[in-house]
Amino acid sequence: MKNYLVTGGAGFIGSCLIRRLLKEGHKVTTIDNLTTGFKSNIPKNINFIKGNCGDPKTYKKIAKTKFDAIFHVAGQSSGEISFDDPVYDINANTTSTILLLKYALKSRCKRFIFASTMSVYGSKPDKPVKEIDNTEPESFYGNSKLASENYLRIYQKYGIKYTSLRLFNVYGPGQNMKNLKQGMVSIYLSQMINNGKIHVKGSPLRYRDFVYIDDVIYYFMECLRNKKSIGKTINIGTGKKTYVHQIIKILAALHKKKISVKYSGSTQGDINGIYADVILKEKIFGKRMLTKLSDGLLSMYKSSMQYISYEII
Ligand SMILES: NC(=O)c1ccc[n+]([C@@H]2O[C@H](COP(=O)([O-])OP(=O)(O)OC[C@H]3O[C@@H](n4cnc5c(N)ncnc54)[C@H](O)[C@@H]3O)[C@@H](O)[C@H]2O)c1
Repeated sequence: MKNYLVTGGAGFIGSCLIRRLLKEGHKVTTIDNLTTGFKSNIPKNINFIKGNCGDPKTYKKIAKTKFDAIFHVAGQSSGEISFDDPVYDINANTTSTILLLKYALKSRCKRFIFASTMSVYGSKPDKPVKEIDNTEPESFYGNSKLASENYLRIYQKYGIKYTSLRLFNVYGPGQNMKNLKQGMVSIYLSQMINNGKIHVKGSPLRYRDFVYIDDVIYYFMECLRNKKSIGKTINIGTGKKTYVHQIIKILAALHKKKISVKYSGSTQGDINGIYADVILKEKIFGKRMLTKLSDGLLSMYKSSMQYISYEII
């Protein structure tokens, strides 16, 4: 049995990761400030610390704990919100990483796995984006995640063994259906289920790389076993390009009810399209069949039918 720290355990990805670690028999502590996460998401029988990872005081509560690895998953996860409050964004996404790195060194925990994002790239030509491509983030969110990646790279010199996973569009059961500012699939699904009206902010011809939650958790867990992932920044996507209108079409077909779709407006810092080059991921972790988009959307749709109302946050 190992002892892990997972930040952001009340959120979508953090809570799924904790469940997987518990299933494998490990001990888990999480730190979460419950800004976008829910206490009810946190699995039972773990040590929950309510606190801001961007506040040094938070770490006093775990000063004497020795972890085998830290998964830094907590963060302000919306490009749109990063424009509303860039100061909070950099605290949640960069200061948090620096403080955790300092804590890691002090507590002699060397392994550090970070939830980064495709948003570090910014707009790119219509071809799969590679880890070695230029990073020109167009949102404060992408910028603060990129800064964290750079801190991790520099902290290597002090012995930190990092992996940065650049997550593409993660979707699946458990995604927050109340947050209408983060997660394309969850936003459209929530609107469709609640009132049959989808409002897409932007063009139907934008495209993304949608990766299912179970596959994402698989790669987080593999980082613990796979030494080749140390010191690497890796795209976590499917390598497939899916247009917004294709997602809407699949969701509408699942719903089997009349829906209306309006395309208008835009989101600040949004990019037209991006999808992952997965050569490095496959070189490090090997080739693997990933969840088909239609299967993943079906399981998300089924689990989401329990949400019958939402509030805008
Ligand atoms: N979901 C995606 O498609 C996606 C894509 C790329 C990267 N990511 C990254 O993965 C991570 C998890 O994303 P998610 O979809 O689970 O989002 P989420 O909003 O569901 O989870 C984030 C969790 O972190 C907590 N949190 C935020 N700021 C905090 C702080 N300063 N201190 C302590 N806790 C804090 C929130 O309360 C929440 O529980 C985020 O860092 C996000 O940027 C997600």
